[in-house]
Amino acid sequence: MNSVSFDFNTLSPRERYKILIGTVVPRPIALVSTVGADGRANAAPFSFFNCLSSDPAIVALGVEYSPGGQSKDTVRNIRATNCFTVNVVSGAIMNQMNICAVPFDAGVDEITEAGLTIAPGAAIAAGRIAEAPAALECRLHSFLNVGESREIVLGEVVYAHFHENAIDAEKLYVDATVLDAVGRMGGHGYATTRDYFELKTMSVAEYSAKNQMKTAAKAS
Ligand SMILES: Cc1cc2nc3c(=O)[nH]c(=O)nc-3n(C[C@H](O)[C@H](O)[C@H](O)COP(=O)(O)O)c2cc1C
Repeated sequence: MNSVSFDFNTLSPRERYKILIGTVVPRPIALVSTVGADGRANAAPFSFFNCLSSDPAIVALGVEYSPGGQSKDTVRNIRATNCFTVNVVSGAIMNQMNICAVPFDAGVDEITEAGLTIAPGAAIAAGRIAEAPAALECRLHSFLNVGESREIVLGEVVYAHFHENAIDAEKLYVDATVLDAVGRMGGHGYATTRDYFELKTMSVAEYSAKNQMKTAAKAS
């Protein structure tokens, strides 16, 4: 197969964005709930999002500046209160998540507009979205300064909440089918996680045994 290649040094920020959002797929979506210094709740989705470490438990958000060059409300609130909650977006709340991304005027409460409910945080000031099947309460760990257009927020997870049918609370198995997480693809695309399958990582012994079986099958 012939290749088509791009030198990122020669691309505009928009071109890099297009290549990255089409290539790094599917991206999990954090519906981030925060609270401002004035006590007002806010929620917005972010797919430049992932879990980077479990010890300590660190998640990261990549938040662009608004077109006017100011921080988005989410980042303003995180700076003011040092906390945020990552709510998992299931198929059931996908349309509500999309309403939270509408650039409403300040003063419009997008959580009410979307018909979502805020439940109080257990360990932090920010609440969680009650309709989300799972939510991770995070304390601000740090901001990473990577350039002029984006703020990268690292948060340490301090509390996790689940709808009771979404986790086996003894074995700590999260049920992917109940979570029904939706992922972001390039453009306006989304993907579900409903075609779940398992592929166990092999030990060297398992790999060798499998290879020997293959060789034996070929020889017979
Ligand atoms: C699925 C989805 C993913 C998004 N991911 C990001 C993202 O990673 N970074 C970002 O800055 N904006 C992202 N946005 C846009 C923000 O959600 C949008 O700008 C929102 O209005 C910000 O709200 P706030 O000002 O209340 O923080 C995304 C929107 C959608 C629908």
